Amino acid sequence: MIVAIDGPSGAGKSTLGKMLAKKLNLLYLDTGAMYRAVALAVLERGVGFDETSKVVEIAENARIELIGEPDSLKIVLDGRDVSADIRTLEAAQAASIVSTISEVRRIMVEHQRTLGENDPSGCVLEGRDIGSVVFPNADVKFFLTAKPEARARRRFTEDTAKGRLSSYEQTLAEINERDERDVSREDSPLTISENAIVIDTSELDLSEVFEQMIAKISEAKSAAV
Ligand code: DC
Repeated sequence: MIVAIDGPSGAGKSTLGKMLAKKLNLLYLDTGAMYRAVALAVLERGVGFDETSKVVEIAENARIELIGEPDSLKIVLDGRDVSADIRTLEAAQAASIVSTISEVRRIMVEHQRTLGENDPSGCVLEGRDIGSVVFPNADVKFFLTAKPEARARRRFTEDTAKGRLSSYEQTLAEINERDERDVSREDSPLTISENAIVIDTSELDLSEVFEQMIAKISEAKSAAV
């Protein structure tokens, strides 16, 4: 079973994706983390985002692994644990920029399909183009969204808990800038794909959204029998 979760940043995709993967015993793939790992490698090597062929070469040669259970997932880049390094604001913006390069997307999509298809029980993938490009035939497709203010509030609370310094206004501006780039890029922009179940999480708590998602997955499973 393949479950696709798309949506803008801060809509709850990661938290809910992990909860679903655990409950259903499926592999969990955080595809944004893969773009972040490429972006980190680009930043660390001092390569400019406009040096497309160098960025593509980095994406091609990067060995990106996602290791462990959903709750303690480690992102490993060329053998090094970069789980914390990829979560900075700089890495988030850089990931959004490198993800506009078609060749980088092609490499990431191929990697994501291989990982998703090779798991015997199935996979929960979260990102921006899962239902539209990576697995257009996914068994269930969700599009999670929320008002920018609600998403920024959540992100700000998470960042503060992790000891990261920023303000709510800064977080909101960062989210708006990234969303704008992610929806307006030419290749695989963030869109609500056909058949996706749209859930606005602004006014709902996590457990309510989780129950709705589980119910939809059960419906899809019974329909498939
Ligand atoms: O989900 P995230 O915030 O970790 O993603 C970081 C960036 O990566 C996001 O701004 C856009 C890009 N991305 C993408 O283009 N396609 C995906 N499937 C996942 C992420």
